[in-house]
Amino acid sequence: MNHEMFENFLSEAIPERSGYEAPVIHAMRYSLLGGGKRVRPSLMIAAYRMFEEREEAIYPYAAALEMIHTYSLIHDDLPAMDDDDLRRGRPSCHIAHGEANAILAGDGLLNQAMELVVAAGLSAEEPKTSLRAARSLFTAAGIQGMIGGQTADLLFEGKEAKENDLLFIHQKKTAALIRTALEVGGILGGASEKECETLKKLGEVIGYAFQLQDDLLDVFSTVEELGKPIGSDKKNEKLTFLKLYGVEQTKETIRDLFVQADELVSSFGNNEELQTIVNEMLNRRS
Ligand code: IPE
Ligand code: IPE
Ligand code: MG
Ligand code: MG
Ligand code: MG
Repeated sequence: MNHEMFENFLSEAIPERSGYEAPVIHAMRYSLLGGGKRVRPSLMIAAYRMFEEREEAIYPYAAALEMIHTYSLIHDDLPAMDDDDLRRGRPSCHIAHGEANAILAGDGLLNQAMELVVAAGLSAEEPKTSLRAARSLFTAAGIQGMIGGQTADLLFEGKEAKENDLLFIHQKKTAALIRTALEVGGILGGASEKECETLKKLGEVIGYAFQLQDDLLDVFSTVEELGKPIGSDKKNEKLTFLKLYGVEQTKETIRDLFVQADELVSSFGNNEELQTIVNEMLNRRS
Protein backbone atom coordinates (compact mmCIF):
# COMPACT_ATOMS: atom_id res chain seq x y z
CA MET A 1 0.00 0.00 0.00
CA ASN A 2 0.96 3.58 -0.42
CA HIS A 3 1.61 4.53 3.22
CA GLU A 4 1.71 8.28 2.70
CA MET A 5 -1.61 8.35 0.86
CA PHE A 6 -3.23 6.15 3.45
CA GLU A 7 -1.95 8.28 6.35
CA ASN A 8 -3.35 11.39 4.65
CA PHE A 9 -6.69 9.68 4.19
CA LEU A 10 -6.79 8.74 7.89
CA SER A 11 -5.93 12.26 8.98
CA GLU A 12 -8.52 13.85 6.71
CA ALA A 13 -11.19 11.44 7.95
CA ILE A 14 -11.03 13.11 11.38
CA PRO A 15 -10.21 16.81 10.87
CA GLU A 16 -9.22 19.04 13.79
CA ARG A 17 -12.07 21.19 15.10
CA SER A 18 -12.08 24.14 17.46
CA GLY A 19 -15.59 23.71 18.88
CA TYR A 20 -16.74 22.10 22.12
CA GLU A 21 -15.95 18.66 20.66
CA ALA A 22 -12.24 19.58 20.29
CA PRO A 23 -11.04 17.54 23.34
CA VAL A 24 -12.39 14.27 22.02
CA ILE A 25 -11.13 14.96 18.51
CA HIS A 26 -7.63 15.68 19.88
CA ALA A 27 -7.73 12.37 21.73
CA MET A 28 -8.94 10.47 18.66
CA ARG A 29 -6.26 11.96 16.43
CA TYR A 30 -3.60 11.46 19.13
CA SER A 31 -4.18 7.71 19.17
CA LEU A 32 -5.05 7.13 15.53
CA LEU A 33 -2.25 9.15 13.98
CA GLY A 34 0.46 8.51 16.56
CA GLY A 35 2.22 5.51 15.07
CA GLY A 36 1.01 1.96 14.70
CA LYS A 37 2.23 -0.62 12.23
CA ARG A 38 -0.99 -0.51 10.11
CA VAL A 39 -0.92 -4.29 9.77
CA ARG A 40 -4.66 -4.65 9.21
CA PRO A 41 -5.03 -1.98 6.49
CA SER A 42 -1.91 -3.35 4.78
CA LEU A 43 -3.41 -6.83 4.72
CA MET A 44 -6.77 -5.57 3.46
CA ILE A 45 -5.18 -3.57 0.67
CA ALA A 46 -2.82 -6.41 -0.30
CA ALA A 47 -5.75 -8.84 -0.54
CA TYR A 48 -7.70 -6.34 -2.63
CA ARG A 49 -4.75 -5.74 -4.93
CA MET A 50 -4.58 -9.41 -5.88
CA PHE A 51 -7.79 -8.66 -7.82
CA GLU A 52 -7.89 -4.89 -8.41
CA GLU A 53 -5.17 -2.36 -9.15
CA ARG A 54 -6.36 0.95 -7.64
CA GLU A 55 -6.15 0.82 -3.86
CA GLU A 56 -7.84 4.16 -3.06
CA ALA A 57 -11.28 2.63 -3.55
CA ILE A 58 -10.82 0.52 -0.47
CA TYR A 59 -9.36 3.24 1.81
CA PRO A 60 -12.65 3.93 3.61
CA TYR A 61 -12.82 0.29 4.72
CA ALA A 62 -9.11 0.08 5.56
CA ALA A 63 -9.36 3.33 7.55
CA ALA A 64 -12.52 2.11 9.30
CA LEU A 65 -10.70 -1.06 10.36
CA GLU A 66 -7.70 0.88 11.66
CA MET A 67 -10.10 3.13 13.62
CA ILE A 68 -11.81 0.11 15.18
CA HIS A 69 -8.44 -1.44 16.02
CA THR A 70 -7.20 1.84 17.54
CA TYR A 71 -10.33 2.21 19.64
CA SER A 72 -9.83 -1.37 20.90
CA LEU A 73 -6.31 -0.40 22.00
CA ILE A 74 -7.46 2.80 23.74
CA HIS A 75 -10.04 0.86 25.74
CA ASP A 76 -7.68 -2.11 26.28
CA ASP A 77 -5.22 0.23 28.05
CA LEU A 78 -7.79 1.73 30.44
CA PRO A 79 -7.35 1.08 34.18
CA ALA A 80 -10.45 -1.11 34.16
CA MET A 81 -8.89 -3.36 31.53
CA ASP A 82 -5.11 -3.92 31.15
CA ASP A 83 -4.14 -0.67 32.89
CA ASP A 84 -1.18 0.13 30.66
CA ASP A 85 0.39 3.60 30.50
CA LEU A 86 2.24 3.39 27.21
CA ARG A 87 1.01 2.77 23.66
CA ARG A 88 2.69 3.19 20.30
CA GLY A 89 5.69 4.71 22.06
CA ARG A 90 3.71 7.45 23.81
CA PRO A 91 1.59 7.82 26.95
CA SER A 92 -1.66 5.90 26.49
CA CYS A 93 -4.70 7.92 25.50
CA HIS A 94 -6.15 8.03 29.03
CA ILE A 95 -2.81 9.21 30.44
CA ALA A 96 -2.46 11.99 27.86
CA HIS A 97 -6.12 13.03 27.60
CA GLY A 98 -7.83 11.73 30.74
CA GLU A 99 -10.03 8.69 31.19
CA ALA A 100 -13.31 10.26 30.12
CA ASN A 101 -11.90 11.55 26.84
CA ALA A 102 -10.23 8.20 26.20
CA ILE A 103 -13.55 6.39 26.57
CA LEU A 104 -15.24 8.93 24.30
CA ALA A 105 -12.38 8.80 21.80
CA GLY A 106 -12.82 5.04 21.49
CA ASP A 107 -16.56 5.43 21.00
CA GLY A 108 -15.95 8.27 18.54
CA LEU A 109 -13.57 6.14 16.45
CA LEU A 110 -16.08 3.30 16.25
CA ASN A 111 -18.79 5.68 15.05
CA GLN A 112 -16.49 7.35 12.58
CA ALA A 113 -15.65 3.91 11.19
CA MET A 114 -19.33 3.19 10.69
CA GLU A 115 -19.92 6.53 8.99
CA LEU A 116 -17.02 5.99 6.57
CA VAL A 117 -18.26 2.56 5.55
CA VAL A 118 -21.89 3.67 5.14
CA ALA A 119 -20.83 6.66 3.04
CA ALA A 120 -18.68 4.40 0.83
CA GLY A 121 -21.63 2.06 0.37
CA LEU A 122 -23.94 4.91 -0.63
CA SER A 123 -21.68 5.89 -3.50
CA ALA A 124 -20.79 2.34 -4.56
CA GLU A 125 -21.85 0.85 -7.88
CA GLU A 126 -22.79 -2.39 -6.16
CA PRO A 127 -24.26 -1.53 -2.75
CA LYS A 128 -24.85 -5.18 -1.94
CA THR A 129 -21.14 -5.95 -2.18
CA SER A 130 -20.46 -2.99 0.13
CA LEU A 131 -23.01 -4.32 2.59
CA ARG A 132 -21.35 -7.74 2.60
CA ALA A 133 -18.03 -6.08 3.39
CA ALA A 134 -19.63 -3.90 6.09
CA ARG A 135 -21.25 -6.91 7.67
CA SER A 136 -17.95 -8.80 7.80
CA LEU A 137 -16.20 -5.81 9.38
CA PHE A 138 -18.77 -5.02 12.06
CA THR A 139 -19.41 -8.65 12.95
CA ALA A 140 -15.67 -9.10 13.48
CA ALA A 141 -15.57 -6.00 15.69
CA GLY A 142 -18.52 -6.98 17.87
CA ILE A 143 -19.59 -9.65 20.35
CA GLN A 144 -18.91 -12.44 17.87
CA GLY A 145 -15.41 -11.09 17.37
CA MET A 146 -13.13 -8.61 19.11
CA ILE A 147 -15.52 -7.55 21.88
CA GLY A 148 -16.36 -11.18 22.63
CA GLY A 149 -12.66 -12.02 22.82
CA GLN A 150 -11.82 -9.06 25.04
CA THR A 151 -14.62 -10.13 27.39
CA ALA A 152 -13.23 -13.67 27.60
CA ASP A 153 -9.69 -12.31 28.01
CA LEU A 154 -10.84 -10.51 31.18
CA LEU A 155 -12.91 -13.46 32.37
CA PHE A 156 -9.90 -15.78 32.37
CA GLU A 157 -7.51 -13.45 34.22
CA GLY A 158 -5.93 -15.48 37.02
CA LYS A 159 -7.96 -18.58 36.12
CA GLU A 160 -6.99 -22.09 35.11
CA ALA A 161 -8.00 -22.89 31.56
CA LYS A 162 -7.57 -25.24 28.65
CA GLU A 163 -6.27 -24.75 25.13
CA ASN A 164 -9.82 -24.35 23.78
CA ASP A 165 -10.42 -21.36 26.03
CA LEU A 166 -7.19 -19.82 24.83
CA LEU A 167 -8.10 -20.47 21.23
CA PHE A 168 -11.46 -18.78 21.76
CA ILE A 169 -9.79 -15.69 23.22
CA HIS A 170 -7.14 -15.38 20.50
CA GLN A 171 -9.44 -16.14 17.59
CA LYS A 172 -11.91 -13.52 18.80
CA LYS A 173 -9.90 -10.71 20.31
CA THR A 174 -7.17 -10.65 17.66
CA ALA A 175 -7.73 -12.98 14.70
CA ALA A 176 -11.26 -11.70 14.01
CA LEU A 177 -10.03 -8.25 12.89
CA ILE A 178 -7.18 -9.74 10.86
CA ARG A 179 -9.54 -12.21 9.23
CA THR A 180 -12.00 -9.49 8.25
CA ALA A 181 -9.13 -7.40 6.85
CA LEU A 182 -8.43 -10.13 4.31
CA GLU A 183 -12.06 -11.01 3.71
CA VAL A 184 -13.11 -7.41 3.05
CA GLY A 185 -10.17 -7.01 0.66
CA GLY A 186 -11.37 -10.10 -1.18
CA ILE A 187 -15.06 -9.18 -1.23
CA LEU A 188 -14.46 -5.67 -2.57
CA GLY A 189 -11.82 -6.86 -5.02
CA GLY A 190 -14.31 -9.32 -6.49
CA ALA A 191 -12.84 -12.58 -5.20
CA SER A 192 -14.90 -15.76 -5.62
CA GLU A 193 -16.62 -17.45 -2.64
CA LYS A 194 -13.84 -20.03 -2.57
CA GLU A 195 -11.13 -17.39 -2.63
CA CYS A 196 -12.88 -15.51 0.20
CA GLU A 197 -12.94 -18.73 2.25
CA THR A 198 -9.18 -19.16 1.71
CA LEU A 199 -8.58 -15.53 2.73
CA LYS A 200 -10.63 -16.04 5.90
CA LYS A 201 -8.65 -19.17 6.77
CA LEU A 202 -5.42 -17.27 6.17
CA GLY A 203 -6.67 -14.52 8.49
CA GLU A 204 -7.41 -17.03 11.23
CA VAL A 205 -3.98 -18.61 10.93
CA ILE A 206 -1.92 -15.42 10.90
CA GLY A 207 -4.23 -13.75 13.42
CA TYR A 208 -3.61 -16.53 15.92
CA ALA A 209 0.14 -16.43 15.24
CA PHE A 210 0.08 -12.62 15.66
CA GLN A 211 -1.28 -12.89 19.21
CA LEU A 212 1.19 -15.66 20.13
CA GLN A 213 3.98 -13.34 18.96
CA ASP A 214 2.45 -10.46 20.93
CA ASP A 215 2.52 -12.62 24.07
CA LEU A 216 6.18 -13.52 23.46
CA LEU A 217 7.10 -9.88 22.84
CA ASP A 218 5.35 -8.95 26.11
CA VAL A 219 8.04 -10.99 27.88
CA PHE A 220 11.15 -10.78 25.70
CA SER A 221 11.07 -7.40 23.94
CA THR A 222 12.02 -3.99 25.31
CA VAL A 223 9.83 -0.97 26.00
CA GLU A 224 11.85 1.01 23.43
CA GLU A 225 11.35 -1.52 20.68
CA LEU A 226 7.75 -2.42 21.49
CA GLY A 227 6.41 1.04 22.39
CA LYS A 228 4.23 -0.49 25.11
CA PRO A 229 4.98 -1.86 28.57
CA ILE A 230 6.72 -5.20 29.02
CA GLY A 231 5.19 -7.70 31.44
CA SER A 232 1.60 -6.51 31.12
CA ASP A 233 0.27 -10.07 30.77
CA LYS A 234 2.03 -11.28 33.92
CA LYS A 235 0.84 -8.24 35.85
CA ASN A 236 -2.76 -9.05 34.86
CA GLU A 237 -2.36 -12.84 35.16
CA LYS A 238 -3.51 -13.25 31.56
CA LEU A 239 -4.14 -16.61 30.05
CA THR A 240 -1.56 -16.98 27.28
CA PHE A 241 -0.18 -19.83 25.18
CA LEU A 242 3.19 -19.03 26.71
CA LYS A 243 1.84 -19.59 30.20
CA LEU A 244 0.26 -22.91 29.23
CA TYR A 245 3.04 -24.39 27.09
CA GLY A 246 6.27 -22.41 27.50
CA VAL A 247 8.55 -20.53 25.13
CA GLU A 248 9.76 -23.32 22.84
CA GLN A 249 6.32 -24.65 22.05
CA THR A 250 5.03 -21.14 21.45
CA LYS A 251 7.82 -20.46 18.95
CA GLU A 252 7.26 -23.81 17.26
CA THR A 253 3.52 -23.19 16.96
CA ILE A 254 4.17 -19.78 15.42
CA ARG A 255 6.49 -21.40 12.86
CA ASP A 256 3.88 -24.07 12.04
CA LEU A 257 1.19 -21.44 11.59
CA PHE A 258 3.37 -19.47 9.17
CA VAL A 259 4.05 -22.62 7.14
CA GLN A 260 0.26 -23.03 6.85
CA ALA A 261 -0.05 -19.34 5.95
CA ASP A 262 2.55 -19.71 3.23
CA GLU A 263 0.59 -22.53 1.60
CA LEU A 264 -2.62 -20.51 1.69
CA VAL A 265 -0.96 -17.41 0.20
CA SER A 266 0.65 -19.53 -2.50
CA SER A 267 -2.77 -20.65 -3.73
CA PHE A 268 -3.28 -17.15 -5.17
CA GLY A 269 -1.69 -15.73 -8.28
CA ASN A 270 -0.45 -12.14 -8.18
CA ASN A 271 0.29 -12.53 -4.46
CA GLU A 272 3.69 -10.76 -4.09
CA GLU A 273 2.44 -7.87 -1.96
CA LEU A 274 0.52 -10.18 0.38
CA GLN A 275 3.45 -12.57 0.56
CA THR A 276 5.78 -9.74 1.58
CA ILE A 277 3.46 -8.60 4.38
CA VAL A 278 3.01 -12.12 5.72
CA ASN A 279 6.82 -12.57 5.71
CA GLU A 280 7.23 -9.28 7.57
CA MET A 281 4.70 -10.48 10.14
CA LEU A 282 6.65 -13.70 10.66
CA ASN A 283 9.82 -11.75 11.43
CA ARG A 284 8.30 -8.88 13.37
CA ARG A 285 10.06 -7.48 16.45
CA SER A 286 7.41 -4.99 17.53
C1 IPE B 1 -1.68 -4.89 19.15
O1 IPE B 1 -1.83 -4.82 17.76
C2 IPE B 1 -2.81 -5.62 19.75
C3 IPE B 1 -2.94 -7.01 19.32
C4 IPE B 1 -4.02 -7.47 18.78
C5 IPE B 1 -1.84 -7.94 19.50
P1 IPE B 1 -0.66 -4.27 16.83
O2 IPE B 1 0.61 -4.97 17.19
O3 IPE B 1 -1.09 -4.35 15.41
O4 IPE B 1 -0.56 -2.75 17.30
P2 IPE B 1 -0.22 -1.42 16.47
O5 IPE B 1 -1.42 -1.10 15.64
O6 IPE B 1 0.99 -1.66 15.64
O7 IPE B 1 0.00 -0.38 17.54
C1 IPE C 1 -5.40 -6.97 22.92
O1 IPE C 1 -4.53 -7.94 23.32
C2 IPE C 1 -6.18 -7.27 21.73
C3 IPE C 1 -7.18 -6.18 21.51
C4 IPE C 1 -8.31 -6.43 20.97
C5 IPE C 1 -6.87 -4.80 21.89
P1 IPE C 1 -3.38 -7.36 24.28
O2 IPE C 1 -3.97 -6.75 25.50
O3 IPE C 1 -2.35 -8.41 24.46
O4 IPE C 1 -2.78 -6.19 23.34
P2 IPE C 1 -1.60 -5.23 23.80
O5 IPE C 1 -0.44 -6.13 24.16
O6 IPE C 1 -2.10 -4.43 24.95
O7 IPE C 1 -1.32 -4.43 22.56
MG1 MG D 1 -5.74 -6.91 26.58
MG1 MG E 1 -3.28 -4.95 26.49
MG1 MG F 1 -0.26 -8.06 24.53
